[in-house]
Amino acid sequence: MSENPRTPESGSQEISVPEGAAPSPADGIPADGTASHGNAIDGAAAPESGDAGATGATRIRRDGPMFPDGSGPAADPAGDHHERRIRSFQPRRSRVSPTQAAALRRLWPVWGRDIDGLSRIDLDTFFDGRPVVLEIGFGMGEATAQMAAADPDTGILACDVHTPGQGNLLALAERNGLTNIRVANGDAIILLREMLAPGSLAGLRVFFPDPWPKKRHHKRRLIQPDFISLATTRLAPGALVHCATDWEPYAEQMLAVLTAEPTLHNLYPDYAPRPAFRPLTKFEGQGLDKGHVVHDLMFRRGE
Ligand SMILES: C[S@@+](CC[C@H](N)C(=O)[O-])C[C@H]1O[C@@H](n2cnc3c(N)ncnc32)[C@H](O)[C@@H]1O
Repeated sequence: MSENPRTPESGSQEISVPEGAAPSPADGIPADGTASHGNAIDGAAAPESGDAGATGATRIRRDGPMFPDGSGPAADPAGDHHERRIRSFQPRRSRVSPTQAAALRRLWPVWGRDIDGLSRIDLDTFFDGRPVVLEIGFGMGEATAQMAAADPDTGILACDVHTPGQGNLLALAERNGLTNIRVANGDAIILLREMLAPGSLAGLRVFFPDPWPKKRHHKRRLIQPDFISLATTRLAPGALVHCATDWEPYAEQMLAVLTAEPTLHNLYPDYAPRPAFRPLTKFEGQGLDKGHVVHDLMFRRGE
């Protein structure tokens, strides 16, 4: 059994995600395109024949080249030169639907960036001068697309290792005419440490990070003191740090870690009320179905 209830052990089983399927109301994007939170956006492409099922989907391994011609995200962009021993994510097998693969081939060269740790990203050029918020772990990207639609003057640098989600988000962006989303493929820690300039981000979002519930895996949780001290160096004065989780012990850890970071101050006495501008995410919906309580945390970097 997986140590993480929401991400299987590496290689222990194959993930099959119905990417490309029309989003459900539980995703906050009803199939008719009217969003229940934020702006209405069109969902990713309706299932093509074989799009969401076993037929037609492309089975990939993260350690094998999916786009050998370099036309899409690399399987292991940082390679050995920036290897981190403890990772907050699971390398996993995924299925990439034809729609997602087509979106990646078409849009990755323009809107995608591998986290290779080799050079700085010029955010001003990449986002046409918009202020930029980094979202770490966007999953399938439905909430990301809704927030981008609601605030077109803010750029969203959406970072994840999940190839189907990267394709889904790019397809959503194109379908909805969103020009303020860029996708970064790889480990957010390498992105922050090696590729983003100090003070360059207008905000940081981490929604429903993997909870790593077993004690021996707590070291894999993303929100730790070292991570927050690194991340805050990349934030501009006044930048908002917004986290959310449905895992109570992780919420307590987030509150303790963020409160202890001297450059941040809490906008609320402890947890924040759920802001109307944060759409329901896929993992949030799953947590709510299990009766979990969701906590938001909103901290601001000092001037
Ligand atoms: C539990 S999912 C939540 C997805 C989405 N935010 C939601 O609420 O539906 C966490 C996501 O974070 C990603 N992730 C975890 N650690 C990461 C890291 N260090 N860099 C980039 N992505 C990461 C995982 O691949 C996964 O897609």
